[in-house]
Amino acid sequence: MVDFVSLKRQFDRYSPEYEDAALRAMRSGWYIMGNELKTFETQFAQYTGVGYCVGLNSGLDALTLAVRALGIGPGDEVIVPANTYIASVLGVTENGATPVFVEPDEFFCLDAEKVEAAITHRTKAILPVHLYGQPCEMERICSIAEKHGLYIIEDCAQSHGARINGRLTGTFGTIGCFSFYPTKPLGALGDSGAVITSDPVLADKVRKLRNYGSGVKYVNELAGVNSRLDEVQAAILQVGLRHLDEGNEYRRRIARRYLEGIRSDLVTLPDTRLGAEHVYHVFAVLSEHRDELQKHLLDKGVKTLIHYPIPPHLQECYARLGYSRGSFPVSETYAQNELSLPIYVGMPDEDVEAVIEAVNCFSV
Ligand SMILES: Cc1ncc(COP(=O)(O)O)c(C=O)c1O
Repeated sequence: MVDFVSLKRQFDRYSPEYEDAALRAMRSGWYIMGNELKTFETQFAQYTGVGYCVGLNSGLDALTLAVRALGIGPGDEVIVPANTYIASVLGVTENGATPVFVEPDEFFCLDAEKVEAAITHRTKAILPVHLYGQPCEMERICSIAEKHGLYIIEDCAQSHGARINGRLTGTFGTIGCFSFYPTKPLGALGDSGAVITSDPVLADKVRKLRNYGSGVKYVNELAGVNSRLDEVQAAILQVGLRHLDEGNEYRRRIARRYLEGIRSDLVTLPDTRLGAEHVYHVFAVLSEHRDELQKHLLDKGVKTLIHYPIPPHLQECYARLGYSRGSFPVSETYAQNELSLPIYVGMPDEDVEAVIEAVNCFSV
């Protein structure tokens, strides 16, 4: 069987380092907001080249607290891609703000061409998602945001280490939001996330919000939450960060092999934007016969996933927004046709070859 992802294989590659890091944190006697967190935050800020990193409990918290710290709430609108994972939208609606969906481009990212038409007097921010690990057209999105005086909240949950024109995702916007869910390019061994920003006031606000709204113990300036990245995960993430670029290169090598090896009229391979360094968190192919392809691959012993079968505007939780089938046809077509092939750090070469062979013998 070809696994879709094997976290065990990823872990085994660096297990002595992970075990040392976890033991160091466990033996320290300090488990919340200690030196491991400070060290990771400093290292991730240095890696990204922005001034501040604030560690949190999850990528969803990163988005929710970023929106909150920017003062975005009821009556405000935030532009989000219509084909994203639900968390990008939840970060907006958790604050009582309204998501305004915009269709994706041919690279599965927010279509910069269509953003301006969605801006109203209520718009406060644009929330591009570097979906599947490929950067959005950030220079264009930045100039639109600047022209209209909007914040940019980057969802980098899938794009750690991805660059466009040499610049890292997360460093273009007002604030960059990361998930460290275990399968992500930089993954913990549990839930966690972070924001990065070059704005010290904004960083300080998120830092307070994650800790009950408190900067000084038992003094609460804001009505905050508990979203603190714990010491064990912070220690684990230092190991992951050391190997992030190497892991991204590992997946890129698999992607190159898929791109040269897969030859099928029934499957469209993903394209990369000019100037983009894709990190292939997901290797997304399209097929009008997606469900048959998925079944065929499973019959051949290859596990796949769909990212994502139902776009946010058609989810029951957002019925109140009043959208229906046909509201965002590009996103709906992606939801119908997308299939994610296995790609992960530690994936054996023979599994990669087995995937190529299985896709190439697909017929309808
Ligand atoms: C695009 C995107 N945004 C946000 C999130 C939320 O991250 P988390 O699972 O850490 O809350 C995810 C992760 O699953 C994601 O894929």
